[in-house]
This record gives sequence, C-alpha cells and structure tokens, in this order.
Amino acid sequence: MTQLGVVGGGTMGAGIAEVAARSGDQVLILERDQDTADAARARIAASLARGVKRGKLSEEDADAALARLTTTTTVDDFGDRELVIEALPEIENLKVSFFADLDRVTPKETILATNTSSIPIIRVSKEVADPSRVVGVHFFNPVPVMPLVEIISSLATAPEAAQTVTDYVRDNLGKKPIQAGDRGGFVVNALLIPYLVSAIRMYESGYATKEDIDTGMVNGCAHPQGPLALCDTVGLDIVLDVSESLFDEFRESHYAPPPLLRRMVDAGYLGRKSGRGFYDYAR
Ligand code: 3HC
Repeated sequence: MTQLGVVGGGTMGAGIAEVAARSGDQVLILERDQDTADAARARIAASLARGVKRGKLSEEDADAALARLTTTTTVDDFGDRELVIEALPEIENLKVSFFADLDRVTPKETILATNTSSIPIIRVSKEVADPSRVVGVHFFNPVPVMPLVEIISSLATAPEAAQTVTDYVRDNLGKKPIQAGDRGGFVVNALLIPYLVSAIRMYESGYATKEDIDTGMVNGCAHPQGPLALCDTVGLDIVLDVSESLFDEFRESHYAPPPLLRRMVDAGYLGRKSGRGFYDYAR
C-alpha cells in the first residue's frame, strides 16, 4: 500500500487516483478549490459506478475505493506522500512552479512523477534541488481501461527512481510499463499523432467522410475506435497541444496541426468532454 498524492483531479488525475484507490492505495488528491475537488470526486464515483455496471468490480470494492480517496486544497498536506503524480494541464510554468512547491514540502525520498505528455521531464524538474527523483509516468485515456504506462527517465533521473515507479505501476496498479527516453511524444504519441493529424487532414480535404475514415480503421485494422472518434476521446485540445509540441521538437510536417484542428479547438469543440467534437455527444 502506497501513500499516493495526485496533483489535479481532471480526466487524467481522476483516472490515476481511481486506479490507485482500487488497488488499495491511500490517495490524496490536490485541487485548487473545494468545488473542483468535489468535481474530481464525483468524476471518480461515476467511473467506479460504470465499472460496477460493467461487472469489473463489486459495489463493496467501489465503496472501499472511494473511502481510500481524500482531497485537499493545499500542497502542504503532501508532506507524508511516498509518491506524487502530477496531472495538471500542459502549461510548463504551472508544472515547474508546482514541482518547486513539491520539492519544498516533500521529504527527499519521495518520488515526484509527472503525467506530462508533451513537456520534457528535465524542464519540469528545473526547480527541484535534486532532479534525480523526478520521473515521467505517462498514462493513457481512459486510465481505468488502458493498460499501458510509459516510464520516462530524464538525463538526470536516478535509475532507482525509474525502477521504483516501474515496479509500482506494474505490481500495484496492474499496468503494463514500457521505458522511453525524454524526447517529444515518448513512444506512443510520436507514432499516434502523425496518424491522427493525417486523418484530420484527410477529412478536411473532403477526400472521405469522417464515418468512412473511422469505419476504415475499425473494420480494416481492428482498432477499437477510428482516428476521429479517438480524437474526441482524447480531447481535441490535447491532440493540438501534443502535435504543437512534437512539431516544435522535430520540425517535421507530419506532426503539424491542421487548420481544422485549431479551428475546432477555437470553437470549443473539444470532443466527448465538451459534448461536441467530430461527432455530437449532446445528451
Ligand atoms: N472501469 C473499468 N473498466 C471500464 C470502465 C471503468 N470505469 N469503463 C469501461 N470499462 C471497460 C468495459 O468494461 C469494457 O471492457 P470489456 O471489453 O472487458 O467488456 C471496456 O472498458 C470498453 O468499455 P465500453 O464498452 O464501455 O466502451 P466502448 O466499447 O465504447 O470503448 C473505449 C470505449 C475504451 C474508449 C474504446 O473505444 C477504446 O479502447 N478506445 C481507444 C482508446 C485509446 O486508444 N486511448 C489512448 C489514447 S492516447 C492517450 O491517451 C495519450 C495522450 O497523451 C494523448
């Protein structure tokens, strides 16, 4: 059992907290105020209820998991955490200043992990006195369903810290860890983003309908979702952020975000979470 701290209770943070609580960890979630903390808890309760409905866990186990989750609005409560996983929005300054706070309040043995999908781990560690304790730990959406976790070592990460996190996600959380270096997109997004933006370009050019593009990949390649539906699951704002950061890192055109992706994000069409993306999810 690990005393886990999760920073941010949005889609990814809530998913990570849920999986850890289901695995028996005591999880403390940090949010900016009581309303967002309550929203994170409600998000986790809804996902646990979905898991119960799908026969993935019993109602008693779901209640026990919820009982292992607590929330706070102050980082000072993180002094007793053995492992902290940060899942804040992909804003570099926000993460850097947060890691400075974590450095101040946690003992030097605590491993500080970031779920960033696009910011180099070494830059997130910039204001941590001992950056050897900072590790990238990249989960996939939806976290309760996707087995993979990428473990990323920066140039300064201690091998023991990466190993501890690898063991934790495999043995405690039951996930499948892989190792990646600290470069844009790690393994999966470096391969996935060119595919997703190609699908958007194909749709944007009028070459095929969105339904036919998605049907093609579901029925022709046995993917669970087609690329445009997957963009809606991931969030178009996230796809845009990651593609911009990959383009920035490599300057290769297959990473560049297509205009339609930018316009959809400008319009607030972010996918499932906003009720509209390439498809309509309005209830
Ligand atoms: N807890 C536990 N299990 C759950 C669950 C929950 N809260 N919600 C759903 N599940 C399980 C279901 O029981 C089902 O399991 P089964 O196949 O054993 O019966 C499975 O998940 C599928 O769930 P549903 O039937 O409810 O939903 P769908 O069939 O519509 O699948 C999906 C939805 C899981 C999103 C599926 O379409 C999928 O796997 N899509 C691909 C997702 C993907 O590729 N994610 C990676 C994105 S990249 C990323 O995240 C990185 C970032 O940095 C960009």
